[in-house]
Amino acid sequence: MSAMHQELSEVLKTLPDEQRQSAAGRDFWVGHWRGHEVVAVLSRIGKVAAATTATALIERFGVTHIVFTGVAGGLGQGVRVGDVVLADAFLQHDMDASPLFPPHEVPLYGRALFEADAGLSATLRAATEQVLVRPEEALGAAAVQEFALHAPRLHDGLIVSGDRFVATSAESQALRQRLPDALAVEMEGAAVAQVCHDYGIPLAALRTISDRADDSAHVDFTRFIDTVASRYSATTLDRFFEM
Ligand code: ADE
Repeated sequence: MSAMHQELSEVLKTLPDEQRQSAAGRDFWVGHWRGHEVVAVLSRIGKVAAATTATALIERFGVTHIVFTGVAGGLGQGVRVGDVVLADAFLQHDMDASPLFPPHEVPLYGRALFEADAGLSATLRAATEQVLVRPEEALGAAAVQEFALHAPRLHDGLIVSGDRFVATSAESQALRQRLPDALAVEMEGAAVAQVCHDYGIPLAALRTISDRADDSAHVDFTRFIDTVASRYSATTLDRFFEM
């Protein structure tokens, strides 16, 4: 599952036999990847779109596991453009039903944090490590040069989601103060995690850092997805399905 079109296109190039099926106003690509039955889908952007997509994947396509790949803005210290964050938990940074419930707590769930599945994440981590030791193999030397992606790092930790593209230093600074453990910010993961929690479906998520969620967050965003994040996703998933 990915939020943006450019990312899914690299994945679809890798699927040998995908067939398109429509449901919930979306295209689901059903096929095989290294012997595994897979469904690839574009969630579109934002928490509601992502939750609808995850629900359709589970209810209509009977998926047993979900892997999300995409981009995110880096929040944590040392989380740089070109690094990769593997989620160990998710939180909705724009959830606030206080004073009825503590800030960030999802009402009636008694929790703010939704965990990623440890086993699925460990496999995704091993696949990502293989790709990051030699980024030029996945991306080509030109992309490594263009985005100065020397020695990209893999971080594990909290990913926060909300219905905002964070593109000012003031906002990312405020998020950092409110949620000091957050490594990265995006717009879908915590919604998918809540749906997966409801259905008891294991989830793993990998996010390539495309920006630092600051005043220059929009610069080269699309080009970065095309040349870096989409290739990281497709190559990592290929290793993942091989494991
Ligand atoms: N996805 C990638 N960069 C992001 C940002 N700065 N804010 C929200 N989602 C993002």
